[in-house]
Amino acid sequence: MNDLSSKPQFPSGAHDRAASVDWSREAIIGRRDRYFAASQRAFVPYQNPLILRRGEGQYVWDEEGNRLTDLLGMNLCISVGHAHPRVVAAVRAQVEQLTHCTTMFHHPVPAHLAEELAATMPKGFEWVVHFTNSGTEAIDLALMMARAHTGHQDVVALRNSYHGATYGAQSVTGIKGFRHNVAQVPNVAFACEPNQYRGVFGPGTQPYLDDLDRTIDTSTSGKLAAMLIETVQGYGGIIFMPPGYMAGAFARTRAAGGLAIVDEVQSGFCKTGRAMWGFESEGVVPDIMVLAKGIGNGIPLGAVVARREVAESMAEKFIFHTYGANPMACAAGRAVLQVIRDENLQDNARRVGRALKERLTDLQRRFPVIGDVRGEGFMLAIELVKDAGSKAPASEETAYVFERTRVHGLVLSKSGIYKNVLRMVPPLCLSMDDVTPVAEALERSFRDLQTR
Ligand SMILES: Cc1ncc(COP(=O)(O)O)c(C=O)c1O
Repeated sequence: MNDLSSKPQFPSGAHDRAASVDWSREAIIGRRDRYFAASQRAFVPYQNPLILRRGEGQYVWDEEGNRLTDLLGMNLCISVGHAHPRVVAAVRAQVEQLTHCTTMFHHPVPAHLAEELAATMPKGFEWVVHFTNSGTEAIDLALMMARAHTGHQDVVALRNSYHGATYGAQSVTGIKGFRHNVAQVPNVAFACEPNQYRGVFGPGTQPYLDDLDRTIDTSTSGKLAAMLIETVQGYGGIIFMPPGYMAGAFARTRAAGGLAIVDEVQSGFCKTGRAMWGFESEGVVPDIMVLAKGIGNGIPLGAVVARREVAESMAEKFIFHTYGANPMACAAGRAVLQVIRDENLQDNARRVGRALKERLTDLQRRFPVIGDVRGEGFMLAIELVKDAGSKAPASEETAYVFERTRVHGLVLSKSGIYKNVLRMVPPLCLSMDDVTPVAEALERSFRDLQTR
């Protein structure tokens, strides 16, 4: 394994005394296999499960003390860095004061966070916030809001999308691997995602807008409640929407009476390095934005940010998420916004992301299995193909390289419908000093593939 000199000490503190924790590998795997339901057990990317014990900044340590660079940000939840001292301090202060305040009662911290999130949105509109526990709940709420506001039922989503696991969010999720063989919520049509590398219409924006026209004309009533777009498809393999797509798609949606919903669960919080939100650089203004993951730097929280008149459509009855607007999670959310601003992390994502992408492009020149290198900021991907001409997905090769990246000290993810994309979405604090070690670890992994 990688450098062991950075092995940390794990003192047994008060917590260990409070409830004993068995850190042996066999025991952890055994308990999980025995007591986790199949639906939670199934998602294990590595052949040999990775057990994590500690995180700091852009690094995590496994239970044996091996340090890995977290290019996944624990699935984008760790936005400003593991155990960021300001987030930890904010959460600790709040948890000691009042761990939970049910939303029936008032507390200043969630109200502050709502104001601060609203302030990040385009001027000239009145924005309001509804906090949830997770992204999938926020997607469900966004769909309900759109249907309530417009009085229409039909929703258009993109193929190759992921929006969450609940009934509502799953029904707008296109990727087969996340759609279970159960009845889905109806009135959803899918348009082709404008994937510039392997999209069905090749590169360009217009063919995909034409496809959206056909989708509306042939798979809906013509009256839309909404169109829902991840501004960068995440699990789909880091697919940025090409210039003009979102503007064209939302114009068509509005012409059909629908609302524009952006899912910024992965692309939000400066991940693209371009702006706080993915939609901003496309010159569009959504009606509803969905947030989660990085909002709490690992503390569970989701949010719907909507134009006031849209959200008012739900005023007749309340929607109650027991832990939505939890003050501890919202304290984390406030600290995240402050850290992003004070540490200039958007600029860091842009600069470090660009430097890392240059190194990935260099790898592409040397390893023919790399068909595409794409992305911006800290939303980067390498797509592996059998050969550049056919673009046949190199899924088995990707699985091998993926295993090797761990051996060489990286955590990242296998994504895309063919699991042939290495997705890199590190915390915003990944630094210039990390670029060479990360590039070298990737290079070693691809060399291992050549010599296996
Ligand atoms: C783009 C996107 N939307 C929605 C969700 C659902 O969020 P959660 O897992 O917090 O329910 C996810 C989760 O991975 C996501 O990636």
